[in-house]
Amino acid sequence: MVYESTDEVSKKWGISPRRIATLCQNNRINGARKIGKTWLIPNYIEKPLDGRKSKNNMNLHDLYKKMEEGYNVIYPSQDGATYTSPLNYSDDLSKTRQRWYRYKEGYSIELVKKIISDYCEGDNLQILDPFLGSGSTIIGANSIGHRGIGFEVNPFSNFLSECKLKNYTIEEAELFNSTYKEIIEESKDSSLDYSLPDLSISNKVFDIEVEPFFMKINFLIKERNIPQNVKNLLKLGWLSALEIVSLYRKAGNGLKKRKSPKSTVTTILETEVVLRKNYEDIYSDIVNNTELKFDAKIINDSSLNMSSYINDNSIDAIIFSPPYANCFDYTEIYKLELWFGDFVKAYSDLKVLRSSSLHSHLNGISQLTTNAIIEKNDPLFLLLEELKGRELWDKKIPVMLALYFFEMKEIIKKSYDALKTNGVCAIVVGNSAYGGVIFPTDLLLAKYAENIGFKVDRIEVDRYIITSSQQYEKTKKSKQYLRESILCLVK
Ligand SMILES: C[S@@+](CC[C@H](N)C(=O)[O-])C[C@H]1O[C@@H](n2cnc3c(N)ncnc32)[C@H](O)[C@@H]1O
Repeated sequence: MVYESTDEVSKKWGISPRRIATLCQNNRINGARKIGKTWLIPNYIEKPLDGRKSKNNMNLHDLYKKMEEGYNVIYPSQDGATYTSPLNYSDDLSKTRQRWYRYKEGYSIELVKKIISDYCEGDNLQILDPFLGSGSTIIGANSIGHRGIGFEVNPFSNFLSECKLKNYTIEEAELFNSTYKEIIEESKDSSLDYSLPDLSISNKVFDIEVEPFFMKINFLIKERNIPQNVKNLLKLGWLSALEIVSLYRKAGNGLKKRKSPKSTVTTILETEVVLRKNYEDIYSDIVNNTELKFDAKIINDSSLNMSSYINDNSIDAIIFSPPYANCFDYTEIYKLELWFGDFVKAYSDLKVLRSSSLHSHLNGISQLTTNAIIEKNDPLFLLLEELKGRELWDKKIPVMLALYFFEMKEIIKKSYDALKTNGVCAIVVGNSAYGGVIFPTDLLLAKYAENIGFKVDRIEVDRYIITSSQQYEKTKKSKQYLRESILCLVK
């Protein structure tokens, strides 16, 4: 018999040698033999039909359908869909305090209020958000007379929430108002010194004219002998201008250099306009909204440790949106704020931060080690099995997914313990897809919640997620499962 190597067959069939090796490994090519590390394929064998893909897509579709059976899933077109518009955060970014920083991953305070009014009764309730981000849950809860507790692992986001969720005196507001104006003028003094953080791209972050002016403002804020509350507000206004006046912008999973001259800030005057606008907004929101009283306890720690801070059966409602299993690394996306805001001083700090954040991303994950335990009757087990042999853009994806769902199960368990009986736990979450396999996070979490003791009251689909064209083709049949939903669980 004449045999051919994977390279030779690759040219003949027009698919990669790696794909051919996978087909051999999975017994899809009759007569293939492995000699050492090399596969040899009989020369008469024809390219197998891509039957595996269509067959499994069919099976996967059935699996998703089965996973959804028995749940009250509300699709956007259905009459019962009520959370559809409040989830949209963009309107919120012009609202009082929400506009202090454009936290793009946030949800709206209207959604929070709606969930509380749908599921809770009484005043002065205790509302918990284990993934506080920019503090929307507590703003929503406090605005209707409830108290709030939040966990946030990222020190920049934690700082942002602390600033937004504080009661300021009129004296503090006035001191803030006069100090920012003085500092802007003083920073035009060319004799002042400043230093850049130890981030590798630090000296490329700003245009040459912008850098000294903008950095001196931060230096002057740090030096000023003023109350910490006022100092923090000045720092927040400055951090909120950072991305706008920088030569980078947040894009996808990280930072990208700006290309358009139109959106690039290159002068002191333009920088000053951005800063003044931020400071005016902050000042005006404090002096004009004095009726809003904040009652927030914010904990800069991983919510996986929440049981060390919260008593069992003490919380009335839990509302949150965790990081999604989409490889988005919050420490990477907020890199500029973390380094320039002195929250991170060395790469080792960043590493620690990454490992204590939820494993929704690949940074710091080793391909081989995971302490995640997945039971064989967990649909996640089948989905991960399905990933084997699929082409993935990173080999660590299965480990990341195993860790992510393991940690989310822990969060749901701890949330259950913290909640009072009849309390609601509402989770806003998006599903993801890798190698043509959809990971229906909403349905997987619903199953975990049910096993823990929750009643799954409803899963409301808010919107469908647009994936890369390659993923779209592979998941077309099951596209209804590529979505962002709100999972409402009752203890
Ligand atoms: C989707 S955002 C939350 C946005 C928030 N709902 C809002 O409206 O601003 C998820 C947040 O979880 C934080 N996070 C990630 N891992 C965490 C952990 N283990 N404990 C607490 N917070 C975590 C991230 O830093 C991020 O701010």
